[in-house]
Amino acid sequence: MAGRSVVVGVGHYLPERVVPNSEFEKTLDTTDEWIKTRSGIERRHFAAEDETTSDLATNAAEAALADAGLTADDIDAIIVATSTADLTFPSAATMVQARLGMTKGFAFDVQAVCAGFVFALSNANALILSGQAKRVLVIGAETFSRIMDWSDRSTCVLFGDGAGALVLELQEGEGTSDDRGILSTDLNSDGRYKDLLYVDGGVSTQSTGHLRMQGNQVFRHAVEKLAKTANTALENVGLASTDVDWIVPHQANIRIIQGTAKKMGLPIENVVVTVQDHGNTSAASIPLALSVGKQRGQIKQGDLIVTEAIGGGLAWGAVVLRW
Ligand code: UT7
Repeated sequence: MAGRSVVVGVGHYLPERVVPNSEFEKTLDTTDEWIKTRSGIERRHFAAEDETTSDLATNAAEAALADAGLTADDIDAIIVATSTADLTFPSAATMVQARLGMTKGFAFDVQAVCAGFVFALSNANALILSGQAKRVLVIGAETFSRIMDWSDRSTCVLFGDGAGALVLELQEGEGTSDDRGILSTDLNSDGRYKDLLYVDGGVSTQSTGHLRMQGNQVFRHAVEKLAKTANTALENVGLASTDVDWIVPHQANIRIIQGTAKKMGLPIENVVVTVQDHGNTSAASIPLALSVGKQRGQIKQGDLIVTEAIGGGLAWGAVVLRW
């Protein structure tokens, strides 16, 4: 027997405003065709002016709790993966906690940029397996529209806002890779690559800043590192990519998604793809894709899933779980 962190609920929230690529043609030297061909993105959602990351996160959390048939009273901990929290402090997670009416347990944010949800899942799993929490709400929520430089066509057309959430619950498994729940995680970072993807501002430098990215350099690292971390996480539990039902990747670029699947020897039919509708929602993209994938009828109980992501840091990693 072995404890496992099993997904018992999933949900997401997307802001109402949908922005098609053609909107950018009005203000920038760009085309719908360029954006679609180079990134796979066709549209993205942007939060309303008075809508914050914790609003998005709370809506996604409520959807996940409803899906699980649980209430906030049943939750011991909340982790929000985000790089765009409402305030410098307190954490977005404590704001979600209050909004859900949860007066016990604990809540905190995890900041690993686009890899944030993978890092948050791994932390939630560790809390559950070490007996510190029985049920954890793990949320990815972002408002990257707030840190865009709208004059930089190489970045501002790529990102979107949104939130997704999972409820993880301690359940007993057999201790084999047939168990439901998180089976393995692989986390990595290498701070030497800071300049490839960063925000040129922050509390200690006394500004908010804008996202800066050397896209083609990040692309190169993504193609090299994502299949490797996914395969490492699989090998850790004696599985291979041929066992995988669904790759649920970070949704940054369709060409990275295709390249990673190909490197893993899997057809695109085994990948949940949402990048066309959401753009890059950073830490929110994987839980959004999990929720949409379930809604579409792609992801079913018992399916073996590998999630993988890379982003600013660089930070990257993968989680293998049986749904
Ligand atoms: O989520 C965190 C991790 N982030 C990622 O994984 C993003 C990784 N990178 C990418 O997705 C891609 O590198 C991009 C989509 C950002 C760019 O695609 P690319 O094929 O790597 O293009 P590039 O950066 O090499 O740029 C090619 C050309 C350049 O023009 P020149 O120098 O060849 O004349 C750019 O100036 O495309 C130009 N360009 C644009 N043209 C029209 C850049 N942005 C645009 C644009 N519209 N929006």
